[in-house]
Amino acid sequence: MKERIQKLLSAAGVASRRQAEELLRAGRVRVNGTAAQLGDSADPDRDTVEVDGVPLGQPPRRRYLMLNKPRGYVTTLRDEQGRRTVAELTADCGDRVYPIGRLDLNSEGLLLLTNDGVLCHRIIMPGSGVVKEYYAEVTGRFRPDTEARFREGITVDNHFRCLPARIEIAPDGASARIFVSEGKRHQVKRMVAAAGARVRRLKRLAIGGLRLDPALAPGEYRPLTQEELALLFQPVPDSKTP
Ligand code: URA
Repeated sequence: MKERIQKLLSAAGVASRRQAEELLRAGRVRVNGTAAQLGDSADPDRDTVEVDGVPLGQPPRRRYLMLNKPRGYVTTLRDEQGRRTVAELTADCGDRVYPIGRLDLNSEGLLLLTNDGVLCHRIIMPGSGVVKEYYAEVTGRFRPDTEARFREGITVDNHFRCLPARIEIAPDGASARIFVSEGKRHQVKRMVAAAGARVRRLKRLAIGGLRLDPALAPGEYRPLTQEELALLFQPVPDSKTP
């Protein structure tokens, strides 16, 4: 039966649907030897679908990598502006993996990469409840009611109400640990701005129960252990505030 190529690629664990679109736009997918276009379909039982010349076969072995993302790398597989990408940092892992969620260009810290669409979906889908922990260094001053406003759900950009979150501000007010369970664009920076300060450094320390390995230097990655992987598949505690 014919299926959209994006669907075939994500079912085979090659890329998320959005990333499959990027592969199609970049001309890296061929069906029976001809470059496929966005919107094309193929029948996996009758057609030969290849990505970068490699036929889709059995789903590839699952890979789960922890990267300590350095500043200055874009969280994508390929950047049209020619900037450095996180894919370059894991290119030698032997499998095609893609990032789970995003860190901004100048954010750093824990980034997971995988070819497992199920795990990716579980972590990034809205309402997943998976808590991400960040360390932020800031300029300016947090308003005195910041912790309470984070707990209630702070309003950012004057109209968008965030889900309840937690902030622990250091005694000198120059840094904070922030725990959020959603992942909108520039989420933490916008929350901090709404509280009167400005993020100048942002590092992700944990995703759910999984913490960044302090032994990983910026730019280094390693596979997750079985125990770490199990943490990501654990049920998310049912609590309103992280
Ligand atoms: N929130 C941000 O503002 N930026 C990130 O990179 C991650 C979370």
